[in-house]
Amino acid sequence: IKAADINSSGHLQIGGVDALTLADKYGTPVLVYDVAKIRDQIHRFRNVFEQEHVEYEVSYASKAFASVAIYQVMKQEQAHIDVVSGGELATAIKADFPMEKISFHGNNKSEAELSMALEHGVGTIVVDNFHEIDLLKQLIADSSKRVNVQLRITPGIAAHTNSYIATGQVDSKFGFDVDSGQADKALRELMAISQINVTGIHAHIGSQIFDVQGFKGVAHKLVQIAADWQEKYDFHTKILNVGGGFGIKYSADDHPIHPEDFVRAIIDVVKKSAQESGIDMPAIWIEPGRSIVGPAGYTLYTIGSRKDIPGLLPYVSVDGGMGDNIRPALYNAKYEAVLARDPQAQNIEEVRIAGKYCESGDILSDRQPLPETHPGDVLVMLDTGAYDYAMASNYNRNPRPAVVFVENGRDQLVIKRESYDDLTHLDLNYSL
Ligand code: LLP
Repeated sequence: IKAADINSSGHLQIGGVDALTLADKYGTPVLVYDVAKIRDQIHRFRNVFEQEHVEYEVSYASKAFASVAIYQVMKQEQAHIDVVSGGELATAIKADFPMEKISFHGNNKSEAELSMALEHGVGTIVVDNFHEIDLLKQLIADSSKRVNVQLRITPGIAAHTNSYIATGQVDSKFGFDVDSGQADKALRELMAISQINVTGIHAHIGSQIFDVQGFKGVAHKLVQIAADWQEKYDFHTKILNVGGGFGIKYSADDHPIHPEDFVRAIIDVVKKSAQESGIDMPAIWIEPGRSIVGPAGYTLYTIGSRKDIPGLLPYVSVDGGMGDNIRPALYNAKYEAVLARDPQAQNIEEVRIAGKYCESGDILSDRQPLPETHPGDVLVMLDTGAYDYAMASNYNRNPRPAVVFVENGRDQLVIKRESYDDLTHLDLNYSL
């Protein structure tokens, strides 16, 4: 928390709006995004490429947080987006997002999803496997459609992160294996289809990565593959897509470099390796999700009950939990929290922050220093913008929270809080 995040009443402010005012106006739990932070991170990525005079695209990996409003922000920013399902695509369509700036990812896109993408003129299909090539071939056979594809390879690079979110190692469900010749075979199959234009090669090594080595490795590997394919098949790649995964700082224990420094390192390697191997400098695409929206998100909760156990850390419970943030329970993810009324108050004790869900594992933080708290206090969890709302559930039939965007001292509801009617509106009576 910086001094600029505290207003004249000493309260936390988000995008210039008092967090207590937001909690009051929208109720809790509520996820609040500081939109200026989102725009700023996109600009930072862009600046690196501009300074290095490299052709590029910043493609927001919208699985981190997909909604009509965020796609509208991306449209304003003229960014690209990645979608990974018909549902994300439908949301982008609803947001009137330009279809040519969308890349469609996934290791098992259905025929319906692929034909939806073709019908709407999605800019790039990131082809993942042979079944998908067959489906695409059938779907475009009786149309005059042309389609751009990037070919996703498994780079064989193990990223040091949680195994649930590491994707680069050879033993992965994503992409074509290189060493066994699968990727070559895929390229030749795709090149043989006249309506398909292979624009690039794609790899993604994982998420929440702190180590720049993995990105340098993947950049080098992609250039090598490009050079090999140019020599063998006279295939000239226009784009190398290095994926996303740039780690962010959630807690004092995290020490990532700035997201844009990963990009600088990638550009360096691609430039050098391209020169060495004699291929034209390709455009570089990145697909950050977490680093764009993570630090911009703040979840506001209201504190309720408390349980003290002699000799152990107290449990302080809030009105949300694993339904709006599964990450601590699923990945043992750490977050930090402050009190909205006094984010810089002196801490007097360490507590565990418990959710309200009927599960012992529903602990949002297993050790959080806090000042004295009272029921009704608003607790703010920081950096909750990525993979929180996106992975929210209705476990215990709790409604999902509202989402609010703030910018320049103004706030706007962008996803309504679910009501009990919303929770039951798909339910039907049983009468057999
Ligand atoms: N590109 C591809 C192909 C991806 O699979 C992903 C993330 C990204 C880009 C964006 O990665 P990011 O920049 O956001 O790290 N639910 C997990 C994260 C799963 C990431 C899946 N793929 C979590 O909460 O940590």
